[in-house]
Amino acid sequence: MTSPASPKTYHVKSFGCQMNVYDSERMGDLLSADGLTAVDTPEAADVVVLNTCHIRERAAEKLYSDIGRLRQPRADGSRPTIVAAGCVAQAEGAEIGRRAPDVDVIVGPLAYHRLPELLKLARTGRAVDIDMPAVPKFDSLPQRRIAQASAFLTVQEGCDKFCTFCVVPYTRGPETSRPAADLIAEAEALVARGVREVTLLGQNVNAYNGGLTLAGLIRALAQIDGLERIRYTTSHPRDMQGTGGDDLIAAHVEVAKLMPYLHLPVQSGSSRILKAMNRAHTRESYLATLTRLRAARPDVALSGDFIVGFPGETEADFQDTLSIVREVQYAAAYCFKYSIRPGTPAAAMADQVPEAVKDERLARLLAAVAEGSLAFNRSTIGRRCTILLERPGRKPGQLIGKTPWLQSAVVSIPGAAIGDLVEVDIVDAHPNSVEAVPVVPSSQESAAA
Ligand code: 5AD
Ligand code: SF4
Repeated sequence: MTSPASPKTYHVKSFGCQMNVYDSERMGDLLSADGLTAVDTPEAADVVVLNTCHIRERAAEKLYSDIGRLRQPRADGSRPTIVAAGCVAQAEGAEIGRRAPDVDVIVGPLAYHRLPELLKLARTGRAVDIDMPAVPKFDSLPQRRIAQASAFLTVQEGCDKFCTFCVVPYTRGPETSRPAADLIAEAEALVARGVREVTLLGQNVNAYNGGLTLAGLIRALAQIDGLERIRYTTSHPRDMQGTGGDDLIAAHVEVAKLMPYLHLPVQSGSSRILKAMNRAHTRESYLATLTRLRAARPDVALSGDFIVGFPGETEADFQDTLSIVREVQYAAAYCFKYSIRPGTPAAAMADQVPEAVKDERLARLLAAVAEGSLAFNRSTIGRRCTILLERPGRKPGQLIGKTPWLQSAVVSIPGAAIGDLVEVDIVDAHPNSVEAVPVVPSSQESAAA
């Protein structure tokens, strides 16, 4: 059974975070620039890239089961060239080689600019690159081929924080920022291709330090004509303290293109657990940051990440998490059961919480979060805002766009197209979406009356 000697098509399957979505897109750019054509399914592809995520549970198992499927011979006896990429490849490179001998290329998230070269090397044996090179991969990537109205832009990678539960510092390396000038050029090129919104990505995006601060970069990007909206994620509470945080909060007041939304993971509402997590913030310092932000920008929407069942978490600690959810009233929140990541400090901690307790706490947390999201969405009924239309809705004539607060707004606007920014009134709210109606220009309103 052989993989194709001169592949013509590829498919990139993305698992995990937004940064992986960005990386998948850039791997696609590389393969397209190398003459390959993207196809929609792995079954139709000569090269299949599995861009893995190590944060989610059973990430490695998902990779091995995908590899198992892909290695089955096709009707003509061939099989695709299989690339294991992303954080699982970084963390478990050698192990993957042993457990899945059919993998042709193993490439980490900091080395994927070498993908075309690694594919050529793989014709004579497995090609592996899980180095963390000093020269950034971004300098070696081709022009982007993006065709949506909203695009991700990775500005910062890696993490120096070493939360005791997390693998990212080991798989993505230390915090590094891309030079501001490169990012402004990439954003200008995106806008020339029709992009109207960029989301600046980084594991610790508010630690950005590429010649400008994150607030400085946002101010510079806001100067680009045709770029209408700027978002950023994920921020760390520690970097919201001090002057950097003040400057970012000021940008939320001054820069109209900066959307009123902050994703600021707290992980737990218990300062005792936060200490064991090595989060470098307390419940109180986190809430103080939100108070400063809301004083400056009262309409800001907030989202967070939560972990239930961290080692040693008691019912009282969990109650602190429930109470912070109620106190903050998040527009959205992402909730996870703690899961052991081998090699991280928390993996070796005593007092691991039984699975059944984690399940039960997760259910209660999800209920509290859903209640908060619905309350947030209801609080926006009656607001007039602009939405960026992103995709068709379920019913004919419906479109779905994003409000400034990142809600999905369902609307029917005859003649409107995906990519348009339209003014609407929010008229109804559900747990995961709102309904909106287009604002009728006043001349038509009086004509209709
Ligand atoms: N167990 C559960 N959740 C985790 N996260 C990161 N590592 C783990 C883990 N070992 C969650 C955190 C982080 C989000 C991206 O994933 O909440 O903010
Ligand atoms: Fe992981 Fe903590 Fe770094 Fe976030 S800040 S990437 S949770 S170590």
